[in-house]
Amino acid sequence: MPADFEKQSYWHERFASETSFEWLASSQSFMSIIEPYLQAICRERPASILQLGSGTSDLQNYFRRKGCLDVTNVDYEPLALERGRQLEKAAFGDVRMKYVVADVTQLDNGLPRDCKFNLVVDKSTVDAVSCAGETALLRMATGVRNHLADGGFWISLSYSSARFALEQLPFDVEVVAKIPTPKLKASDPDVYYSCYLLRPNMN
Ligand SMILES: C[S@@+](CC[C@H](N)C(=O)[O-])C[C@H]1O[C@@H](n2cnc3c(N)ncnc32)[C@H](O)[C@@H]1O
Repeated sequence: MPADFEKQSYWHERFASETSFEWLASSQSFMSIIEPYLQAICRERPASILQLGSGTSDLQNYFRRKGCLDVTNVDYEPLALERGRQLEKAAFGDVRMKYVVADVTQLDNGLPRDCKFNLVVDKSTVDAVSCAGETALLRMATGVRNHLADGGFWISLSYSSARFALEQLPFDVEVVAKIPTPKLKASDPDVYYSCYLLRPNMN
């Protein structure tokens, strides 16, 4: 990704005209990976979900279709949240999920300390944040860790197969799915996006 992807100004300019776009994979495809984990949470309690860097994706609508309304969508670009609200209203006729302006590398400032989630998700937001370097990604991970409820976890889709190869990461990391990238020619090599499951560790 070009370095500008970590800058809010890049996203502001982009979302001035972009109303809907899905990075790496459709929400339906990402949701098919998330769904078994969501079902396991919902067997025990209503799910409390945090989406990091919601952009102009409609992923939150897939949660609402599953009956999950306790969904907080976070992005540092206010236009993204406006687009998110528009997408929810277009699909359901009203807006019932939360849309919060916050920097995901400073979640402890953006969300109340006692705000905890069973499930945190991001689709390629880790890739944008990583353009600012490992320290930014570690700050993001620490903020996520601090806002996970007991037993909670983070599911992240990235184009990188080594996205979380970081020392001091407060998570155990597992690749739970791989999504093949589109090929221009049949002879192109197989390349995959990686879907990570991150559970808090003892670090
Ligand atoms: C690659 S896009 C992914 C958007 C969406 N998740 C999707 O799948 O289409 C990255 C998103 O993260 C947001 N973002 C990047 N850095 C951020 C940060 N530090 N804090 C909050 N949001 C950030 C951008 O505004 C943008 O909406």
